[in-house]
Amino acid sequence: MKIGIYPGSFDPVTSGHLDLIERASHLVDKLIVAVLFNQSKGKGLFSVEERIDMLEKTTAHLPNVAVDSFSGLLVDYVKNQKANVIVRGLRTALDFENEMQMAQINKQLLTDVETVFLVTAPQYAFVSSSSVRELAYFKGAYGMFVPKYVEEKLKNK
Ligand code: PNS
Repeated sequence: MKIGIYPGSFDPVTSGHLDLIERASHLVDKLIVAVLFNQSKGKGLFSVEERIDMLEKTTAHLPNVAVDSFSGLLVDYVKNQKANVIVRGLRTALDFENEMQMAQINKQLLTDVETVFLVTAPQYAFVSSSSVRELAYFKGAYGMFVPKYVEEKLKNK
């Protein structure tokens, strides 16, 4: 059984993340979307519970997708889940630089795990959680970058 882990901050989940989750779910038997829960990364806009709720609601139509959270090192979580694959999205060359470094370190720490990169769909190549948060804060339009459920949650923040 191939288990994939798609880790991230998901503060909040965007349409770009969702597209990637759908595509990655076809590549593995089970995909766990894992929200990082790390004090050192700061509190963020949404709590981990809220991020999990938004992910659960927006992935409910995908039967082999589960949502969870983790703290500490990603490789330790991967080992605990008996997963084989880490999934990450690539939007830009900058992502590539950072992701390459992370994948190399993770491979050193856990040799039998592979990182698989999916190229973000072009319509979402410029979408990030941080830009969505900023647009929401300054009351700019962001509805096209997030699922409806997340749009409502942002409005209420
Ligand atoms: O959505 P993000 O913020 O780009 O996700 C980054 C994430 C959560 C994948 C990354 O920060 C991570 O794996 N953190 C856990 C700590 C860890 O394992 N670090 C070692 C890799 S250098």
